[in-house]
Amino acid sequence: MSETHAGARRYSALDRLIGRFDRVVRAAVPAGQAAARPSPATDLPDPPLTARERRHSAGLMRVNHTGEVCAQAVYLGPAMVARDPTLERFLRGASAEEHDHLIWCAQRLEELESRPSVLDPAWFAGSIAIALAAAAFGDAVSLGFVEETERQVCAHLDGHLTDLSEEDVRSRAIVAAMRSDEARHAANAREQGGRELPLPIRRVMVLQARVMTTLAYWI
Ligand SMILES: [Fe+2]
Ligand SMILES: [Fe+2]
Repeated sequence: MSETHAGARRYSALDRLIGRFDRVVRAAVPAGQAAARPSPATDLPDPPLTARERRHSAGLMRVNHTGEVCAQAVYLGPAMVARDPTLERFLRGASAEEHDHLIWCAQRLEELESRPSVLDPAWFAGSIAIALAAAAFGDAVSLGFVEETERQVCAHLDGHLTDLSEEDVRSRAIVAAMRSDEARHAANAREQGGRELPLPIRRVMVLQARVMTTLAYWI
């Protein structure tokens, strides 16, 4: 009897976890969903790009789209297990802004007659596993992981602002707006108590991001 009861309790906990995971996955798949904020590119012209510029912009925006899929995992993973309501509010608020970024990138990719990376589901799964592992070490480490991720994303977006054609004002506006949000997310994670991660971990994160950005540019 008690086994059945314990079994029922276990099933219920698993059920809740699956429900949360389902909401996270839905949040990361923006098909048919609208952004809360309009794209920064909305009122900008779309000057013609050369075939080469268009291909390059599409590659960079595909990388950014994959980054935003990972950002969903970085915020929603810890939010799934957060016990502190203030922390959960911060994580969910930032994830809503990341969701806007995801949709802006998807829209721009469509305008460039391109598509998201076929590897997005794998990057999402890997990112959520890493974010949950960081969360298991406590809020300070979890927030430290968020801060370091955002810091690296800012550096990466700075590179895109240098690299994107000056003509591609629509992609540039999206990247600049994301850069501003990511810098605020990093500062907020630090204010919430994020602890700086050890250098070897930060280096592994840089390497992992390099693999992701290289693959996402092409496929
Ligand atoms: Fe973002
Ligand atoms: Fe961010």
